[in-house]
Amino acid sequence: MDHFLYRDGALYAEDVPLAEIAASVGTPFYVYSTATLERHYRLFDEALEGMDHLVCYAMKAASNQAILKTLAALGAGMDVVSGGEYLRAKAAGVPGDRIVFSGIGKTTDEMRLALEGGIRQFNVESEPEMIALNAAALDLGVRAPITVRVNPDVDAKTHAKIATGKSENKFGIPIARARAVYAQAAALPGLDVIGIDVHIGSQLTELAPFALAYAKVAELTETLRADGHDIRRLDLGGGLGIPYTRSNSAPPLPTEYGALIRDTLGHLGCEIEIEPGRLVAGNAGLLVSEVIYVKSGEGRDFLILDAAMNDLIRPAMYDAWHDIVPVIEPEAGTEQQPYDIVGPVCESGDTFAKQRMMPPLVAGDLVAFRSAGAYGAVMSSEYNTRPMIPEVLVHEHQFAVIRARPTFDEMINRDTIPEWL
Ligand code: LLP
Repeated sequence: MDHFLYRDGALYAEDVPLAEIAASVGTPFYVYSTATLERHYRLFDEALEGMDHLVCYAMKAASNQAILKTLAALGAGMDVVSGGEYLRAKAAGVPGDRIVFSGIGKTTDEMRLALEGGIRQFNVESEPEMIALNAAALDLGVRAPITVRVNPDVDAKTHAKIATGKSENKFGIPIARARAVYAQAAALPGLDVIGIDVHIGSQLTELAPFALAYAKVAELTETLRADGHDIRRLDLGGGLGIPYTRSNSAPPLPTEYGALIRDTLGHLGCEIEIEPGRLVAGNAGLLVSEVIYVKSGEGRDFLILDAAMNDLIRPAMYDAWHDIVPVIEPEAGTEQQPYDIVGPVCESGDTFAKQRMMPPLVAGDLVAFRSAGAYGAVMSSEYNTRPMIPEVLVHEHQFAVIRARPTFDEMINRDTIPEWL
């Protein structure tokens, strides 16, 4: 459920008409709903009620300071994957003891940053990383709390580019090697081995792969405890999918996911962490764009929008489907027609949808891409010297620009000219 609904014939974000935001900030723009973000975070928090737990929002999904502050105010932790994300989380007021550091390529500088600024744990993904972290911690005279990310060799049944839990993927250490790696970690004096981490992929639409992975984690917990490791925390990653279209069957709910965690891991008495990103932010954000032209092609009509692949890369990159709806609600019974919906960028990959059924639209009409809150703004670029589009946060009847559109001068002046030119 989200808070983007038609009211009196027009699409609103909470109590604000989208057309009003468009008139104020110009198109295209991203808009997020505070109520939806909060609701989604709470669904996870409540799903784990009764277990010692922390929901660490995977901020790679949408990392604007205002979004982080909104979630942090509810008690959210953060899952970060770079020094930049770590600093962003800290800048938004998230204490270090609520930040977990994931990622396969942490540099020594990033490790030092987090060790000095405070960190809940590092999710370590390889032996060389363990050795580097041990050295960084000893150098600073501290011990780094770690989990080891294991790769359970489970098929997440999602798009190949976002599956991470199969043995051929670059993530984690093969679960079969876990005992040896934990023994090695325990022997490193700069590391404090506290738990196990697993993350098998993103946009999972079934619980079965989670069940398989978590059963393996449960077994490993018992084995490692028998080996003498004090396994007290399990980080279960993110990955629960969202409905990208209302016509498909809905993915499992956070409550069902929470029940699965309780059933598979509850008996171990560990503290549970989860790292949802998409489900928190995805349906809490829209991309709003204006139709520049309607062009008749060979046997098809193109809707040429002012948003492009540089603003929302998911359709080009993953063939992702986003529902695209008119901001003015079509009257009941309006006949739909197929459009190829495209952006202005000079490549054919800049196509959001092919032969998408839409009510008839004309230049100047506004459309909204649903489910664009996660992996939308954060994956945008300035390709074709198109400015990064503004982000707007709505809270009931108020809205605020939370990232402004840069001016062309700002963009151009970021380049510097060598003296010989
Ligand atoms: N934890 C780790 C270690 C991750 O790598 C990820 C996502 C998450 C948590 C959050 O997963 P989520 O709950 O959002 O599924 N750009 C792609 C998605 C990439 C996901 C990368 N890792 C897309 O637009 O679909």
